[in-house]
Amino acid sequence: MVFRTVLVPAVMALWKKLTGMNDRDSRGVGDIEQQCDAAESTVDDAAPPYAPLIGPRSTNSVAETMHRRTRGLSQTAVARGTNHIRSLAHLYGNDDVVWLAGGFPDPSMFPLKGVSFEIGKTTMELTCHQTQRAQQYMLDNGGAGYAPLVQWIESHVRTSHAPPHDTWCVHITCGNSDAPLRYLQHFMDHGDTLLMEEYSFMHSFSQLAPFVGTGQWYVEALRMDDGGIVPDALETLLNAWHTTHPGRRPPRVLLTIPTGQNPTGTTLSDERVRRIYEIACRHDIVLIEDDPYRLLYYGSPHVNDDAPLPEVHQLPTSFLSIDRDERVVRFDTFSKFMGPGFRVGWVTGPRTYLSKTLDVNLVSSLSQVVLGTILTQWSRDDFHEHWDSVRKEYRRRCRVTLAAARTFLPDSITVVPDAGMYVWLRTPGRNTRALEGSMKQVAVVPGGMFTIDYAASQCEFVRVSLCEACDRRVESGIAALEHAVINVT
Ligand SMILES: Cc1ncc(COP(=O)(O)O)c(C=O)c1O
Repeated sequence: MVFRTVLVPAVMALWKKLTGMNDRDSRGVGDIEQQCDAAESTVDDAAPPYAPLIGPRSTNSVAETMHRRTRGLSQTAVARGTNHIRSLAHLYGNDDVVWLAGGFPDPSMFPLKGVSFEIGKTTMELTCHQTQRAQQYMLDNGGAGYAPLVQWIESHVRTSHAPPHDTWCVHITCGNSDAPLRYLQHFMDHGDTLLMEEYSFMHSFSQLAPFVGTGQWYVEALRMDDGGIVPDALETLLNAWHTTHPGRRPPRVLLTIPTGQNPTGTTLSDERVRRIYEIACRHDIVLIEDDPYRLLYYGSPHVNDDAPLPEVHQLPTSFLSIDRDERVVRFDTFSKFMGPGFRVGWVTGPRTYLSKTLDVNLVSSLSQVVLGTILTQWSRDDFHEHWDSVRKEYRRRCRVTLAAARTFLPDSITVVPDAGMYVWLRTPGRNTRALEGSMKQVAVVPGGMFTIDYAASQCEFVRVSLCEACDRRVESGIAALEHAVINVT
């Protein structure tokens, strides 16, 4: 009796407090049992009772951990407040408490009662319970994300990166356009410098513009060659920093796109990743890897269509996989592999870095539930079938595009991509900015758009994407590009 009335609730309350889980998380929301049939309400996707931001606990000493955890954080991150209402979360879902606190709409009012979708030849369905959760705020795992999806991601991270420190964890993001900037604010103070590849994802530049334009942050472009960032140039830049940049604090963060880089298509070799990592450690720099194209790694495009593709253990070395010093924050996205409309990605990194952003991290619950359902219902073979079909297609399109470039713009190929969605073509002696007004039958992106200062840029390159499916149209597009380039001075 005592056991049932006192001990069990006490242990449960303690457990919930420790795990951040509440009854509604674990059992469904509101009067779900009345609405969904009984069999279904035995929650098939209940959050497992693990702590928010899961991952193994650190074995470091307290002092060492404290030092590591404030190291590198910006004043903004340190000052980030607590979401006080979350301190009430343990009362939510407690049957003895009438919950008049938070703004969770009653799911009985949600219009969507079920969802079914086609995946290949299979039809998948969300249960009534899942459908309700998909319409509710998603605060599983203290806000880390929908539990089945988070578990799938963790397992992927373990297999694909096996981070060498024991404080890593993951949380869901809205994708790699949104999340890196949030994290930059986490590490960059007024007057700090961000290191980036000299050509980089243009969206990053437009997001950085308000900070750079108002003198809050500086951006320093890193020299690249056909293998990506040149480590020697990075080392020289940092060693000479105080001479070349008097009065400016040394750079704090390096943001890189390591695989199938956008726009250049370069992939950092294992040797470069290790050298850049060592340099970052020596200069106490946080490394942010924005890596949407790792799952689009196909190796050499100059092979037959049915040639085997690289296995998981043959993917390029990630910074996360060698991060013994806990200085890497890594961004992945489902955009390229499952579809950008989901607006779902994830971040992996040391727990203390990640826990700081959870309060501002609200991702579509519907997307998470649908993705989580697909990925957890897929067998290993189903996953591989989809993964390989996507990679094979990009590999084929890359080969076709390179062949057309060799025909119509013979000196244009400087990088043969092994991953991703882009080919970077050189037009020797031309400034491709002039193409902007003269493209009529083909659209490509002038290379200068991938620099921090497009207006001042002089760039001989254009970025050609592999999104066009029809080989004939690719060929006629590259032929039209040749004509357009001829008129560029
Ligand atoms: C380097 C890089 N980061 C981020 C993105 C956008 O990712 P998401 O669709 O996850 O926002 C892209 C491409 O669209 C990209 O090339």
